[in-house]
Amino acid sequence: MHTFLPLILLPFASALKFPHPDSIINGLKNTVDCDSCHSLLVPLKALAELGDSAFVQTLIATCKAFKLEDEDVCVGAISEQGPILAHGLRGISPFGTTATRLCEGTFGLCQPPAVSQYTVPLPAAGPASARKAPVSTGKAPFQVVHFSDVHIDRQYAPGSDANCKKPICCRNFVDELEPPSEPAGPFGNSNCDSPVALAKSMLEQISAHHTWSIFTGDVVEAAVWNVDKREVTSDIGVFNRELGAALDAPVFPAIGNHDSAPVNNFPLDATVGFDAQWVFDLEGKQWAHWTNHTAAREVKHFSGSYSVTAPGTNLRIISINTVYWYKQNFWLYESDTPASDPRGILEFTVNELQAAEDEGERVWIIGHMPPGSQDCMSDQSNYYNQIVQRYHHIISGQFFGHTHSDEFEIAYSDYENRRADTAVGVAWIAPALTPRSGNPAYKVYDVDPETYEIMDSKVYFSDLKNPKYQTNPEWKLYYSAREEYGPLVDLAATAPLDARFWHAVTEAFEKNETAFQRYNEFMTRGTHVWPCDATCKKVAICQMRAARAENNCHVAAPGLTFGDTERDDQTVKSSKGPATPVSSAAHPQSQCEGAGIGHLLSQLARKIATEPGLEKLMEDLRSQLHTILPPPRATEEL
Ligand SMILES: *[C@@H]1O[C@H](CO)[C@@H](O)[C@H](O)[C@H]1NC(C)=O
Ligand SMILES: *[C@@H]1O[C@H](CO)[C@@H](O)[C@H](O)[C@H]1NC(C)=O
Repeated sequence: MHTFLPLILLPFASALKFPHPDSIINGLKNTVDCDSCHSLLVPLKALAELGDSAFVQTLIATCKAFKLEDEDVCVGAISEQGPILAHGLRGISPFGTTATRLCEGTFGLCQPPAVSQYTVPLPAAGPASARKAPVSTGKAPFQVVHFSDVHIDRQYAPGSDANCKKPICCRNFVDELEPPSEPAGPFGNSNCDSPVALAKSMLEQISAHHTWSIFTGDVVEAAVWNVDKREVTSDIGVFNRELGAALDAPVFPAIGNHDSAPVNNFPLDATVGFDAQWVFDLEGKQWAHWTNHTAAREVKHFSGSYSVTAPGTNLRIISINTVYWYKQNFWLYESDTPASDPRGILEFTVNELQAAEDEGERVWIIGHMPPGSQDCMSDQSNYYNQIVQRYHHIISGQFFGHTHSDEFEIAYSDYENRRADTAVGVAWIAPALTPRSGNPAYKVYDVDPETYEIMDSKVYFSDLKNPKYQTNPEWKLYYSAREEYGPLVDLAATAPLDARFWHAVTEAFEKNETAFQRYNEFMTRGTHVWPCDATCKKVAICQMRAARAENNCHVAAPGLTFGDTERDDQTVKSSKGPATPVSSAAHPQSQCEGAGIGHLLSQLARKIATEPGLEKLMEDLRSQLHTILPPPRATEEL
């Protein structure tokens, strides 16, 4: 027995420690559902335990073998983000709940697990009088501009190819040898992020409104495979200077997932050597131009979040870093017992709301990723919603970006009974500037000066198809939400566009197909329109009624989530060939991610499920893995 036991254990232990190429290949071949994704994590974890380099090289070889993207995209994206994923795998069980989340957030092969029950510590509600919402006496509204997701590409090159094979075009890529099939114009293209000239043009328009603004994040372009800390530092600095020069009124910004390097890099533990403190130091200092020293200190100490009183108002703006709840922030997959409140963002929100309640102030919450989207961890979304339940009487508005779509999400006091009388809050989501996801646009709100509720939301846009677009983009009023939807729900002349109103609008959409299809077109400002049939409409309306992610009706699927929308999106882009029917599919979520690892792994899962001739690819990959991975020492020992 003495000698027998180690003989049994050894192959097992060595299989864990030294992944054989065969175990990876066999794992990949079978990766078609949630169970098999968990099984694949066994050799992937073993690979991560060999070291970041073996892990990164294996993923790069896989990306190349399956032609998930061009070689430079594979190498860049995986070299940057791969070590974070490897760190996560080393810390978790391949069969635990965090692994399920990882299989959902990357491969799209699992559905999110049930929310981990957690009660956010909340101070008891004050006396009833303090909880009574102020009533508008009908004073003239003031205006606030909301813009988002500028994604300025400072390497944008007019004349370069706008119709390339990479996730982002309009750059002079070294591996593009052919003459451009569609030369990029100076003001942007729907296959590319924003040129500086487009951002300048929008800022001139915004400045003409002479009012303060909120900016819900994502300064940096989405060519994430070659974005580094130096570029992000420079892009953020230049943009903050441009904002200061173009606008005479303050801007209140929020941090976006692209405003770090590698993309989405916001570690929970500042000591892991991947810290994002440099982002908070930088933004805190530069935003102080519009906020103040207290807010600058908060940005530094509360991971990018701060609170400030808007000029001449009784309105507290609480800007929170929601990227700590983002499924593509791979630091969220480092433990089988994940933190309920990563980096204390929920606690910060509660403290600021409580201070506002004590002071008799109203509040706007701003952030990058909206809490109800498929991109948001359903745990933190649930916890955030608990906070909204407690403080909805003082929250006059919540404002986000990230999805690049002009849309909204309603919060309810009772998600089992989503009705007008249970609707307690609405998250306003701004359209993007980047033409990559629709016509460039921004919003102007009419704000009641006593309640700080939104009386109207007007979207201004510039039409890419306008013949003058490439010489001098015109910015025009696209639509007014009050004019468009008010008549559908008999809105009283003095009533705000609050959660009850928006719930009534969703009911109108259910009955009135024309009204819904107009909304669907507005989401992307009349271009890149996602054809949406009855099945898709159901999910779309469900999403409108879900500021809490667990209620949004989205179903994870390989190749249909996150950055993959970039590619799916091309099925409805005129310049990338004929449209394929996608109308039953739900609206693509987040246009934000770009070609990160989440996108690559999701494409991989889709290819495994759908591509013929996989055997040959697998054999090519197998032989490459034999050169990357050291021979298993176990056989030598045996
Ligand atoms: C900054 O503003 C906040 C509220 O807007 C205020 O409470 C705080 O005292 C201000 N700090 C400074 C240094 O002015
Ligand atoms: C349906 O919506 C369209 C577009 O908003 C509107 O013109 C029409 O009057 C609506 N029909 C009904 C019956 O409300």
